[in-house]
Amino acid sequence: MSESILKVRGLTKTFKVPANAAGKNQLRALDGIDLDLARGETLGLVGESGCGKSTLARTLMMLERPDSGSVTWDGVDPFSLKGKDLLALRRRVQMVFQDPYASLNSRMSAADIIAEPWRTHKTMYKTSRDRAARVRELLHLVGLRPSDEHRYPQEFSGGQRQRLGIARALALNPSVVICDEPVSALDLSVQAQVLNLLNDLQKQLGISYVFISHDLSVVRHVADRVAVMYLGRIVETGATDAVFDRPAHPYTEALMSAAPKLDAGSRGKRIILEGEVPSPLNPPSGCRFRTRCAHATDICASTVPPAAVDASESGHVAECHHPRRPVSLGVPVAVG
Ligand SMILES: Nc1ncnc2c1ncn2[C@@H]1O[C@H](COP(=O)(O)OP(=O)(O)OP(=O)(O)O)[C@@H](O)[C@H]1O
Ligand SMILES: [Mg+2]
Repeated sequence: MSESILKVRGLTKTFKVPANAAGKNQLRALDGIDLDLARGETLGLVGESGCGKSTLARTLMMLERPDSGSVTWDGVDPFSLKGKDLLALRRRVQMVFQDPYASLNSRMSAADIIAEPWRTHKTMYKTSRDRAARVRELLHLVGLRPSDEHRYPQEFSGGQRQRLGIARALALNPSVVICDEPVSALDLSVQAQVLNLLNDLQKQLGISYVFISHDLSVVRHVADRVAVMYLGRIVETGATDAVFDRPAHPYTEALMSAAPKLDAGSRGKRIILEGEVPSPLNPPSGCRFRTRCAHATDICASTVPPAAVDASESGHVAECHHPRRPVSLGVPVAVG
């Protein structure tokens, strides 16, 4: 794999919440996350609702401070930076959100929305003429028309609004864009257009994406590598085809077996797994998936499965006492 732009090691994040019946009030949303992102790649992040995907995204965006563990962007710990240095790093990591309605200010024109990040990052474009020219370039880049600059978010279709959200994310020339369910709110035909746009932009600009989605067929389509999350941990990572076609973790296996096939007409089915996701206020001992796992034995309750830290960053790795494909465990898989 090419050089990592992002390295995450042992990241934990706990929220204090009102106590539950058992008196527990520490909600461990992230519990020892290890993750790497290579320059120019798309890393898909999948897992059921509440497993911590958005919390991870917000922590990578420096919107949440982790309790422990490290995040490094090109070797730099963002949480150690202040002032100008922090601003410079913030510029490089931008986000596209699920709901372009909620994330775009309805009282601002498209031009103002795109230009807003430059109010904070004042040195990027010095004159209003430069800014106006760049707004039009960005509109063009995302497939909108220059005349759209005067329109307001509510005058755009859903797909156009998401294009505007993408233009705003690109305004600061980021190296990484974190996309949190960027197409989930869109109609299927529009989803494909926005995904193609993201793909074209990546080719053109060399951006890396962290791509969060419930929709496995979308992830399969866009991701070079996939990380599967369960209750605050990444339980399996690997090249997209390896994870989809040869899952090693029983959780991944269950997700993939329930996933709609790529052929047309079968998308959008819900993933059905036995049992409920345990509460992150009171996670199971040992392996967190064991309460829903058909293969669990005593060791799964007593011992956390070994962290797969020894494999190369491009490896296909699962955290499991009884992996479904022992052969692939820890063996690096070449990623294109
Ligand atoms: N600010 C917060 N305060 C308290 N608990 C929080 C906070 N943010 C997230 N959580 C909890 O942390 C856990 C992870 O939430 P998160 O939003 O990261 O999940 P997610 O994987 O993005 O889910 P979804 O797929 O529904 O978007 C959940 O149990 C959630 O209730
Ligand atoms: Mg989320």
